[in-house]
Amino acid sequence: MPLGVFDSGIGGLTVVKALRSAFPRRDILYVGDTARVPYGNKSAETVEAYSREIIGFLKSRGVDRIVAACNTASALAVEKIGKSGGVPLHGMIDSGVKAALAVVGSGPVGVIGTAATISSGAYQAALEAGRPGLRVVACATPLFVPLVEEGWLDHEVTEKVAREYLAPLIREKVEVCVLACTHYPLLKKVLQRVLGSEVKLVDSSEACAESLKGVESRISEKGEFRIFLTDEPGPFLGRVESFLGRGAVGSIERIHLTHG
Ligand code: DGL
Repeated sequence: MPLGVFDSGIGGLTVVKALRSAFPRRDILYVGDTARVPYGNKSAETVEAYSREIIGFLKSRGVDRIVAACNTASALAVEKIGKSGGVPLHGMIDSGVKAALAVVGSGPVGVIGTAATISSGAYQAALEAGRPGLRVVACATPLFVPLVEEGWLDHEVTEKVAREYLAPLIREKVEVCVLACTHYPLLKKVLQRVLGSEVKLVDSSEACAESLKGVESRISEKGEFRIFLTDEPGPFLGRVESFLGRGAVGSIERIHLTHG
């Protein structure tokens, strides 16, 4: 029985990378909703409907655990969907918050994510619940997603955008910054430079894999990685292989989900 992982598109591969390194022999089925990406500017109702469909698909393929490797889906839908018919469902928020609380002193904590993630207030609420009175500085930084997709990981334009977006976090002297979006771990170099070397970055992908170590025990023979996309694969395979390594992908297939 494989582990199911889904994201709005390609970003969840940062989570897959962390999961494969934590559980190298676990089979993984990954759904990238490439036909409907991005989720970060959509309503909670829409993201919930998309997430339910993908979860239904993964269950039909026999997964025994599902990771919503998308911070937006985690913030807007995971809690509401909850345990999905006996299959445990994990989002990104609890593990990211736990990792932030483990390293923060007196605060404040910064959180950056898509517009939908930040306006949901999910990270802010979880941080405040975990440490009452902790000051949280949350900022939507949506342009980071297309910049990563353009491959401008350490580019002067990305740095300019980061200086603009992160000004409130710098002004408030955040101690820790939670990278609450699948794409942002790829910008660590720029983010660290702009925020300053003393600010601790919490990579929610690594935190998610780390938190599953307590509950994951299943091992399969091959550690096979299969991808399902809701749009034509196009250059997806090449991009995955450049990120995860050649031969990392067992198969890549198009699927059709029903919601408009
Ligand atoms: N995967 C999304 C997230 O982690 C970012 C891309 C999108 O907006 O769909 O929030």
